[in-house]
Amino acid sequence: MSHSILLTGASGYLGGSLLAQLSHAKLPPYNHLYALARSESQAASIRQYNAEPLILDLSNQEEVIKTIIDAKITIIYFLVDAMKSELQIPLIKALGEVRKQIGGDQDVHFLHTTGAKIFSEHAGMPIDRRILDTDSNLYELQKSAKAPHSIMAQAINTNNTIIETAQSHGVRSYLFIPCIVYGEGSGFGNRISIQTTAVIKAAKKLRAVYNVNPEGALYIYAVYVDLLRSILSGENPESGRNGYYLASSGSVAWSDIYTAIARALAKRGVVDNEVVKEADDVILAEMGEALGCPKEFVAVQLGGTCTLRPDRASRIGWKPQYSPEHILDAADAEVELVLKHLKA
Ligand SMILES: NC(=O)c1ccc[n+]([C@@H]2O[C@H](COP(=O)([O-])OP(=O)(O)OC[C@H]3O[C@@H](n4cnc5c(N)ncnc54)[C@H](OP(=O)(O)O)[C@@H]3O)[C@@H](O)[C@H]2O)c1
Repeated sequence: MSHSILLTGASGYLGGSLLAQLSHAKLPPYNHLYALARSESQAASIRQYNAEPLILDLSNQEEVIKTIIDAKITIIYFLVDAMKSELQIPLIKALGEVRKQIGGDQDVHFLHTTGAKIFSEHAGMPIDRRILDTDSNLYELQKSAKAPHSIMAQAINTNNTIIETAQSHGVRSYLFIPCIVYGEGSGFGNRISIQTTAVIKAAKKLRAVYNVNPEGALYIYAVYVDLLRSILSGENPESGRNGYYLASSGSVAWSDIYTAIARALAKRGVVDNEVVKEADDVILAEMGEALGCPKEFVAVQLGGTCTLRPDRASRIGWKPQYSPEHILDAADAEVELVLKHLKA
């Protein structure tokens, strides 16, 4: 039986861009491409991409399980919530049911989106050494990590729960780990990303860019389409406890990103000058106010060190398109884009 795919988060930054890419990606044949809609207007936008909208309330377990089974969905992309696991569990259970009903050797697949932050010191992960995403201890490292923030403890627990729930329901799971993603999204909904927006939003309020990290690195990019191609081609890409896929082209220091953003903001008169200052406790509280989070969480939103390195994605044919420094060249355009959306 041919696969049917459900994309969630289609009106979001990542999911919307992915839907746009899938609509013209050259993929092995599949049955249906569904995209989750939460309103009629989202459904209408989804149809423009030759995908079928599926109007569904993910918090209604019974409805979720019935809909996935009725539509015989065998692959789900989850791009809604990296922090909590409530919405993912019924989707995984439903995939397990589809597998039982189809029988034979057809596998079912859950592609979860997590984030590099959930592999950083903010999640209690070690940063004193390089760790490959193919490291056979990665699951154990995540399991034993002691996150200093409860919300990050919840996020790391989400990663583990996805793997464990999928395993117990006979579902192959994959954890995508996008790093900082930037540039204008190509979907029909949200067009701006999270982290660059947080830096710019805080700087706009405080009229200065502040460094919130002692030092740091970040990683960029996406592997989604190559993994789908590999699944549809029956290549059995690694999954479960060996299913971590870091999408990264390399590392760039946060301080370099702040400098590039500060320069672009100063040029537009949004901050007083292009100097990146060190944030103290009072500033962190003000930044927290601008971002709507406690001061302890500002550094989580705007920084972090992740020493994870990509290895697995190259096994499914993925190669980064840009150098890590591309984000510095793109900073001016990113600032222009985010400011335009923040005004709206
Ligand atoms: N952007 C990045 O740089 C990045 C990097 C790493 C990880 N991530 C993670 O990836 C996920 C998606 O990121 P994003 O930047 O695409 O976020 P986004 O633009 O805010 O999109 C979120 C999507 O989730 C949908 N959604 C929210 N609550 C939902 C619910 N209860 N039921 C169904 N759908 C719901 C939204 O639908 P509506 O439009 O209807 O609200 C929207 O389509 C997030 O968990 C984020 O933390 C993002």
